[in-house]
Amino acid sequence: MTKILFDTDPGIDDAMALYLLARDPRAELVGITTVFGNASIDTTTRNALALRERFGIHHVPVARGAARALVKPSEGFADFVHGQDGLGDAGTATASSGHDTPDGRAAALFIIEMARRHSGELVLVPVGPLTNIAHALQLDPDLPRHVRGVVLMGGAFGTLGHGGNMSPVAEANIHGDPHAADIVATADWPVTFVGLDVTHQVRMSTAYLDEIGREGGVHGRYLRDITRFYERFYEPRTGGGIYSHDASAVACALDPGLFTLRHGPVRVVTDGIATGQTIQRLPGRPDPSPHWDGLRDQAVCVEVDSERVLREYRALF
Ligand code: BDR
Ligand code: CA
Repeated sequence: MTKILFDTDPGIDDAMALYLLARDPRAELVGITTVFGNASIDTTTRNALALRERFGIHHVPVARGAARALVKPSEGFADFVHGQDGLGDAGTATASSGHDTPDGRAAALFIIEMARRHSGELVLVPVGPLTNIAHALQLDPDLPRHVRGVVLMGGAFGTLGHGGNMSPVAEANIHGDPHAADIVATADWPVTFVGLDVTHQVRMSTAYLDEIGREGGVHGRYLRDITRFYERFYEPRTGGGIYSHDASAVACALDPGLFTLRHGPVRVVTDGIATGQTIQRLPGRPDPSPHWDGLRDQAVCVEVDSERVLREYRALF
């Protein structure tokens, strides 16, 4: 079992990832923290609470997190990708019973407490802007000693012909808070970047989603319904179907063997035209690179067994 804290901005693919965490017997979900990103913090927190109820994991605390980036001014939310309600405007985004109250602790403090309670065991899986994780590091510089690792959805390293999705070089989660991302990437803990290099390889086709909708019971139907909006956004890029970003990060946290990793320190560009670009120094490079010197190697996913990722996700229904 892998103990996981899920930091999320639900978000349609976030919802799909949470379903994986709720169902996969290899995952022990110890908490959910919310962050702005695909929608405002009010909306992403409401959605996390509604999804928790829908997926029957009421025992998992939901702690509300950051409303804005550490430094970068807000540029609005991705309602053109995830809908006004963050869950595809399918009319399903509200919690219906009494389980709709967040934990009293702020996300960053909750992360610190969980890391200490499960010292040496907890894997953080952030799939939105990295603001909460950076806050936690700022509040508790000892945090890395207690965390087993960070497996995040974010970044674009330009392999396999995949660039960014917010600019030619920047991926949305990193672009949302590049300063936080640089803090997380350069802290002394193992970070795995599950970026667009691999998530663009994990495509759920229209037929795949339809099958889940038809045969996957109430949850399959729900997830297929909320992906209608998302698929319309992605169709010009995918030719039909969606990229499975956040669920790929969860898959990596549960089984890194599905991915090929490349090692080297990572920095994030925090201003200028390349804001949000993730840059890894490759091993054996003779060029002077003081900004990467002295940093620990992090892992970047450069290949994925997408067939297996998709097959294992399908088997959850
Ligand atoms: C990431 O941005 C968000 O739209 C998705 O939820 C995912 O986490 C992909 O770039
Ligand atoms: Ca997300």
